[in-house]
Amino acid sequence: MFSEIKAPEGDRLLALMQAFRADPNPRKVDLGVGVYMDDSGTVPILSSVKIAEQRLLETETTKTYVGPLGDPTFAAAVQEMLLGASSPLLSSGRTRTIQTPGGSGALRIAADLIHANAPDATIWLSTPTWINHGPIHASAGNRARPYPYFNPADGSLDFDGMMACLDGDARPGDVVLLHACCHNPTGLDLGDDHWRELTALMARKALIPMIDCAYQGFGAGLDADVAGLRHMAEALPEVLIATSYSKNFGLYRERTGALTLIAKTPDHATAATAALGPIVRTSYSMPPSHGAQIVALIWTDPTLRQQWLEELAGMRDRIVGLRHRLRTTLEQHQIGRDFSFLTSQRGMFSYTGFTPDDIQTLRARHAIYIASDGRISIPGVNDRNIGYLCEQIAAVLSADKPR
Ligand code: LMR
Repeated sequence: MFSEIKAPEGDRLLALMQAFRADPNPRKVDLGVGVYMDDSGTVPILSSVKIAEQRLLETETTKTYVGPLGDPTFAAAVQEMLLGASSPLLSSGRTRTIQTPGGSGALRIAADLIHANAPDATIWLSTPTWINHGPIHASAGNRARPYPYFNPADGSLDFDGMMACLDGDARPGDVVLLHACCHNPTGLDLGDDHWRELTALMARKALIPMIDCAYQGFGAGLDADVAGLRHMAEALPEVLIATSYSKNFGLYRERTGALTLIAKTPDHATAATAALGPIVRTSYSMPPSHGAQIVALIWTDPTLRQQWLEELAGMRDRIVGLRHRLRTTLEQHQIGRDFSFLTSQRGMFSYTGFTPDDIQTLRARHAIYIASDGRISIPGVNDRNIGYLCEQIAAVLSADKPR
C-alpha cells in the first residue's frame, strides 16, 4: 500500500514554519505562521495560564475521560465569552457548545455535521480565506465556492461584491463561512453596518453562518471583536461558531477550542448536539482536556480573569503599536509605496500585496519568512529585527517596477 502513495503537496504555511526552524541564519525573521510572539521572539506562556496550571496540578484528582462533548463548565465559559453573559441566547435552550481539539477541530466537526445532514449545501468561502478552510471542507466531502471579499486593486474590502455574490448565487440552506474578527489572512474586518446588512441578507435568503472566531480580543477588545457575531447570532435561527483559544490564551499546542451551535428551537438544538456525538466518537473519541480546564478556571476566577484580560490587552496593544512602527519605519525609506494598510488592517495579520518574486527574494536572500500569499504575521516584528526587516523590504520593493 505505501509504495502506491504519492506524497501530497502539503500545507504551505506549515512548510514555511519548518523551513524557518531549519534556517541557521541568525538574522532570520519569522512573519509566517500566526503565533503571538513577544519582543524577545518567544511565544510566551501567559502568567494567568501558568497560575491556572499550577492550581490544576495541585487540585486535579483524575485523568479519566471527559466524554465526547467535553466539560460543561468549559462550555458555559465559552458561551459567556463569545455571546456575552447577558445574552438571551444563553438561557434560551437553543445554544449548545462542545469542547473540541482547537478551532480546527471545531471546524472539521461542523463540516462533518453539514455533510451528514445537508449534503447539498454549498459552503461559501471568502476570497481569500485561511489556508485550511477549503481543505477541511473538501476532506469532509463538502462543496465549496468562493465569494469576493478583498479587492486586490486597492486593498479594500469588497463588501458590495460579497453581497452581490451571496444574493445572486447562494441558495437557501447554504453555509457562509465568516471570520468573526481579525480576518485571516487580510486583516480586513466587516464593520457594524456590514454585519447588519449581511445578517438581513442571510435571513432573507435562509443562509446559515459558520463563523470562525480564532482571534477574539486581538482586534479591538474581547467584546468589541464579536459585536457583529453577537448581532448575527441573536438574529438568525441557525448558526455555527468555531472558537479557538490558541491565540487569546496562548494555548496553541494544547488544542483548545469549541463548537457552538444555535438552533431554531431547543428540541432542534438537542437533536443537533446528539448528532455531534457520533461524529466526535469516530474522529477522536474525546477532546483533550488540559487547555479547556485552564480556560474554564481562568474565566470563572475573577482575579485570574482580570489578570488574563490585562495580558490579552497587552498582546493587542503590542500588535497595534507594531503596526504603527512598521508603517513609520517603512515610510522613512521613502520608496513611494503606500503602507497605510498596516494601520488600517486589524489583528495578527496584514496582507501586504507583495509579489511572489518579492516574497521569494526576501526569503532566499534575507531569511525573511512571509506566507506565499503576502500575509505577514505582525508579532514576528520586534525591536531587534525591525530595522533590518524594513531595510530589506524597502530594498526589494524599490527594485520592483512602480505600482
Ligand atoms: C495561521 O493562519 O497561521 C494560524 O492559524 C496557524 C495555522 O494553523 O495555520
